[in-house]
Amino acid sequence: MSVLFEQLDFVENPLYENVIADILTQKYSVVEQFFTAEEVAALRDSLMEKHQLDAFKKAAIGNRVNETIEKSIRGDVILWIDEVNANATEQLFFDKINHLVGYLNKTCFMGILQKEFHYALYPKGTFYKRHLDTFQNDDRRKLSFVCYLNDEDWQPENGGELVLYLDENGVEQEKVIYPFPGRVVIFESQVIEHEVKPVDTQRLSITGWLKTR
Ligand code: OGA
Ligand code: MN
Repeated sequence: MSVLFEQLDFVENPLYENVIADILTQKYSVVEQFFTAEEVAALRDSLMEKHQLDAFKKAAIGNRVNETIEKSIRGDVILWIDEVNANATEQLFFDKINHLVGYLNKTCFMGILQKEFHYALYPKGTFYKRHLDTFQNDDRRKLSFVCYLNDEDWQPENGGELVLYLDENGVEQEKVIYPFPGRVVIFESQVIEHEVKPVDTQRLSITGWLKTR
C-alpha cells in the first residue's frame, strides 16, 4: 500500500513536461488551450466587469517604486489581481498557476516563491514597444506568463501580435505569436526581448510573472 502511494506521489504531466522542454531548449513555450474555452470566457467576463467599474489604470514602465506612464512605450490599461481577494473565476486561474508552479519547483528546482498577475486591456491603436520584463533594481522575475482572453473569432488582422526576439546562434529571429484565446506564452523574463504590435481591435489578456524571492 505505502509503496503504491509512493509511486503515485509523482505523476508526470505531459503538458508541463513540454513546457519545461521548450524553455530549456528555446527559452519560451506556447501552450494551446492551457485554459478551456469556458475558463477563458469566465476570465474575460471578469476582466470586462472590472474594466466597466473603471478599476483599470494606465500601465506604467519601471516597477512599483520607480514607475512612469509613457504612452509612447506602452498604451495598455491594467488591473493587478489579488489572490487573497480573488473571485471564483480568478481562484480557478490561480489554482492552475499554483499547480504549474508546484510542478516546476519539484521537477526543475526553479525556486519560484512569488508571483504577480494583472489583467491587461489594449485599446485600439495601442502597443507595447520592444522591452525586457526585468527592472534594473529588481531581477526576481524569472518566467513571464501571458494568457490571451480575446473572443473566439479573433483574427490575425486584429493586430496585437506578440513578437519574441530570439537569438539563433547570434542571429536575431522574430517569433510572431497571435493572441488567440486560451493560448498561453511562457518565456524567460530576463532573456527574451519582446513587443506587442499595435492593436486594431481591443485586446484582452492576463500577464504575470513567476518570481524568486
Ligand atoms: C507585458 C507584455 C505581452 C503580451 O505585459 O510585459 O509584454 O502579449 N505582454 O501581452
Ligand atoms: Mn513584457
